[in-house]
Amino acid sequence: VSELRLLDDRRTLPIGVFDSGVGGLTVLHELLVWLPHEDFVYLGDTARFPYGERSPFELERFAIQIADALLVRGAKLLVVACNAATAAALPALETHLAGAAPGLTVVGVVDPGCRLAAKATRNGRVGLLGTTATVSSGAYDRGLQAHAEALELVSVACPDLAPIVQAGFPFDRRVVDTARAYCRPLQAAAVDTVILGCTHYPLVAPMLQRSLGPSVRLIAAGAAVASEVQGVLDRDGLANRQGGEGRYRFLCTGDVAGFRELGTRFLQMPLEDVQHVDLDAEMAA
Ligand code: DGL
Repeated sequence: VSELRLLDDRRTLPIGVFDSGVGGLTVLHELLVWLPHEDFVYLGDTARFPYGERSPFELERFAIQIADALLVRGAKLLVVACNAATAAALPALETHLAGAAPGLTVVGVVDPGCRLAAKATRNGRVGLLGTTATVSSGAYDRGLQAHAEALELVSVACPDLAPIVQAGFPFDRRVVDTARAYCRPLQAAAVDTVILGCTHYPLVAPMLQRSLGPSVRLIAAGAAVASEVQGVLDRDGLANRQGGEGRYRFLCTGDVAGFRELGTRFLQMPLEDVQHVDLDAEMAA
């Protein structure tokens, strides 16, 4: 009986989600839609944004530090909602969690995107738009190979696209021109499917689609990430069986007011409960 009770308690624990800032809210958005009964705690590392130009070593350190902060807050499962952090740090994070929280699953955004792209392409040529950290990790090359060996991946590193999208409301010509320039190598390579390999790119999907043409399939991984999370919860008996809508709250390492204001645009829902967190102080305690 006590073991059943314990499992029952674990079911009502939150899912921990993290990203370099507000971008991962495009992934949380899908999680809230597809898993409405679950509670979520989201951590945006806004003080250290952007992750896209950081080294693999830094991203591993940040990911492990944030995962520990979410574990302290009772996370029953972790979602790395950041492409750069997933691409550079998922294996190291999994190794860390195998010791720190045996049995806890971490879901990243790379594999669900690869799965969708492998299914969508008809000519076998897939494009990737991502940050420098994501492209140089080679994670999408490996991920795509795992789903279908014969596929060709054409990757384009877009160092300034995420910062421009983030700063660019309302969007102007500069955003359009930047997005268009990054699409050119993909058009030249005649890809028929393009992975939006960064949290910010779904916000400029119409511009990218217009540059690439209507027949190119754009792949955003959010809904597939939600479906993978659902599968893990069902497998492990961890789905929250309580009816009604779950709660969600936010932690950020930078300015709270800025996170709330910018975050609403990415989540397309209100952000109410936002708190500041000092990760270094937590680690030292
Ligand atoms: N969240 C990051 C990603 O998906 C984009 C922004 C950044 O560079 O931190 O790669």
